[in-house]
Amino acid sequence: MSTQATQQKIARPFLKWAGGKNRLIQQYIPYFPPEFTTYYEPFLGGGALFFHLLPKTSILTDINAELVNAFREVRDEVEPLIAFLHKHQMNHSKEYYYCMRLMHISTPLERAARFIYLNKTCFNGLYRENSKGEFNVPIGKYKNPKICNAALLRSVSAALQSAQIDVRPFEAVLESAWTCQDFVFFDPPYHPLSPTSNFTAYSRNSFNEADQIRLRDVFVELARRGVKVMLSNSDCLFIRNIYGDFKIHEISASRMINSNAKKRGKISELLITSY
Ligand SMILES: C[S@@+](CC[C@H](N)C(=O)[O-])C[C@H]1O[C@@H](n2cnc3c(N)ncnc32)[C@H](O)[C@@H]1O
Repeated sequence: MSTQATQQKIARPFLKWAGGKNRLIQQYIPYFPPEFTTYYEPFLGGGALFFHLLPKTSILTDINAELVNAFREVRDEVEPLIAFLHKHQMNHSKEYYYCMRLMHISTPLERAARFIYLNKTCFNGLYRENSKGEFNVPIGKYKNPKICNAALLRSVSAALQSAQIDVRPFEAVLESAWTCQDFVFFDPPYHPLSPTSNFTAYSRNSFNEADQIRLRDVFVELARRGVKVMLSNSDCLFIRNIYGDFKIHEISASRMINSNAKKRGKISELLITSY
């Protein structure tokens, strides 16, 4: 196996990301299409499924420009990025965190390093912005957070070399996925099970019922074209109803985004496929 192939093999998500699918992938395996040429992940987040599949051709997109910038800089500038992260590691303190959070940074490389630094040190790895689009998550309670995992970043960089990575709303997938050789995995912000379980505010643009319907319409159109489409969402009547024409599989998950550890139990989620 070549060095690059070995490096790619150990690639895994390099960010903490709400809704990350790492722990569920084993349950997803029976539902992957047996073959496809191009992989699309329009709600990229931490990209857990991409790192599991390591497809040769992929189009990875998300609406979060800071997240996308971080993926691109890991792909294109991994060594200078590691150097910046070492600097953050050395300087990390409560004062430094809040200073970095506020700072205006213009170069993509430094923005990516700051984004990864904040992701590793903020409360629960959350990403939340205020109405002005400023990141506003408080510092997390970590004794010695690992801010720079250089080996992991190098393997992620190798895995991303041939990936196209862009800021796009999910509908943009309609412009490029047309055939049965295309495989699209949608992992949107989940429809809330109750008003208090709502965790859809990844950015200023939160994801509401109308967005879930628009997404369903995109799913239907892709399925009509013969594209292989897979989508995860919460297990609730609304989602079961709007995807009633497709195959619905139940997945057993633990509730991860709950600050009260006692409330982290098993819940059922849905995986919907067009094939
Ligand atoms: C549940 S997370 C994806 C988790 C990811 N699959 C993983 O394993 O880490 C949802 C993602 O959707 C993105 N998002 C929210 N609204 C969007 C939209 N309208 N178009 C594209 N991406 C969107 C968020 O920025 C967030 O990264």
